Amino acid sequence: MVELFSRSLLALDIGSSSIKLMELGGGRQKKVRVMAHIALPSGVVENGVIKDPGAAQEQLRAYFKANRFLPWGRRVCVTLSGNAVIIKRVALAPDKDKDLAEQAYYAAEQHFQTSMSDLEFDFYNLGSSNERGETNVILVGAKREAIDGLMEIVHGNKMKIGVVETDVFAMVNMFEHNYGSAETIMALINVGASFTQVTLVWRGEYLYTREIAIGGNEFTKKIVEATKMEPDAAETAKIAVSNFQQDPTDVISKAIAEVNDQLVSEVQTTIAYYLQGSDNAVPGIPFTNAFLAGGACRVLGFEAALAASLQVPVTVLNPFQNVQVNHRKYPPEEMALEAHKYGVAVGLGLRSLGDRA
Ligand SMILES: Nc1ncnc2c1ncn2[C@@H]1O[C@H](COP(=O)(O)OP(=O)(O)OP(=O)(O)O)[C@@H](O)[C@H]1O
Ligand SMILES: [Mg+2]
Repeated sequence: MVELFSRSLLALDIGSSSIKLMELGGGRQKKVRVMAHIALPSGVVENGVIKDPGAAQEQLRAYFKANRFLPWGRRVCVTLSGNAVIIKRVALAPDKDKDLAEQAYYAAEQHFQTSMSDLEFDFYNLGSSNERGETNVILVGAKREAIDGLMEIVHGNKMKIGVVETDVFAMVNMFEHNYGSAETIMALINVGASFTQVTLVWRGEYLYTREIAIGGNEFTKKIVEATKMEPDAAETAKIAVSNFQQDPTDVISKAIAEVNDQLVSEVQTTIAYYLQGSDNAVPGIPFTNAFLAGGACRVLGFEAALAASLQVPVTVLNPFQNVQVNHRKYPPEEMALEAHKYGVAVGLGLRSLGDRA
């Protein structure tokens, strides 16, 4: 049977160190069609905001050309993160005078603490309610300038925006697809280059997220300060010691451990804040596991330090646990070192047109 216009969305996770490109195919059993990691010069994306769309557009164009990939007319799924997006889960009491959309808008005005005129606003009805019978709703505000930056990159490569997602929901989707839903609270921790997102999920639903302004760049910066190495050399050394390809010097070990301590403490505080009942918490549900993703989650000693602090099992996520990968094209040795970087990209790739964020 000839199928017209049925091509899947092309997912672009535009992060501060690189663009992760993902195309998934297949029916119920998803498989990777295309997966790539396209490095970005520093400064092009900062804290989730695209500072230089032209440079990102060029890097992407160069990748398409080198790989004979024709992007024209393709619909893409892009993502917002960091300062570009505000997410808040609230419970809305039934109100006979207002429909849910109106109530959600008023709630966003109250919670976002920023002018609604600078934001694109949307909300998502989780379809569940809390113990008081109020409807669980997620409010999402996206900064217009961030969406404009994404559009420039996409349109500049003759593609179209199909879906605008957030890193956080992409992670939640990816997690549910690969690991199912659980009756306990789990933390998904995405350690990127410029920041770390901690997202709590329960029964496959999003509960809470907070972004911590520490990521892989901070480790490199600390190594530079401690050793006076050039930033590129410090970055290489950080990755080599984290992959156990090189023994760390005492100075490098200490620099990494210092940032690990700061990051672990912030993650621990974030989770404790939610569990202690603040911010619309679900009462009485135990927190049992933490899952790690993002390039910097494998930094030397982070996983162990986090497990010691949280006192729960900490596991590096495999976003391809339930997604087929052709190992001739993407060798297992490479996947073992790289898979966790694609957490957001797989979550985006699972989206289809018409899905809602
Ligand atoms: N094996 C490794 N060990 C330690 N750190 C690593 C390793 N591989 C990559 N990193 C670090 O991970 C970071 C990149 O991760 P990732 O690709 O998830 O970030 P990003 O999506 O570009 O950034 P962000 O989400 O913060 O905008 C860089 O700081 C890089 O140095
Ligand atoms: Mg990222």
